[in-house]
Amino acid sequence: MSTRPPALVPSSENVISRRGFFMKLGLLFNGLAAAVVAVPIVGFLFSAITRGHGNGYLSWVQLGKVADFPEGQTRLATFRNPYVMPTDGATADTACWVRHIAGEQFQVFAINCAHLGCPVRWFQQSGLFMCPCHGGAYYSDGSRASGPPERGLFEYPYKVENNLISIQAGELPTPGAAIAAFTGEKPSCA
Ligand code: FES
Repeated sequence: MSTRPPALVPSSENVISRRGFFMKLGLLFNGLAAAVVAVPIVGFLFSAITRGHGNGYLSWVQLGKVADFPEGQTRLATFRNPYVMPTDGATADTACWVRHIAGEQFQVFAINCAHLGCPVRWFQQSGLFMCPCHGGAYYSDGSRASGPPERGLFEYPYKVENNLISIQAGELPTPGAAIAAFTGEKPSCA
């Protein structure tokens, strides 16, 4: 009489059914898809908090010595946008108009027209900023004089320290008509 070894019967604990396998695979792919979608959304939500830290967004940028901007005159100045990528090259060099009123009183205007963003020019003789694109005009204090722009020129926050004038240049101007209408104020670079 031959003795056969007992047949190996897999216990139900060690067997993964095909349905269970596909269920786990599905969960894995769902988790991966959720992560792919969630990472940029979370990044966007937190960017409002983190943008002011460590990336130069709100840093102060020097325009030059106070003496470079004679009182009663408006002069062109350029600065390097602090919110710059290594590939930006010369496009990160940005122009602005500096109006020296008196003492440490200045106005620093974005060069872009508040209508559609063309660069405005200062004309000392007429005391106006003129936009070459659609004929927008602004008074010497940046307020709107005529033409399509709905508001005055955008202004950068500035400070004078150690005889140097600096601006907070990281935030680029955007049309702020809606905000201005709501608050009744002239927003700075928004
Ligand atoms: Fe300046 Fe239109 S862009 S008037």
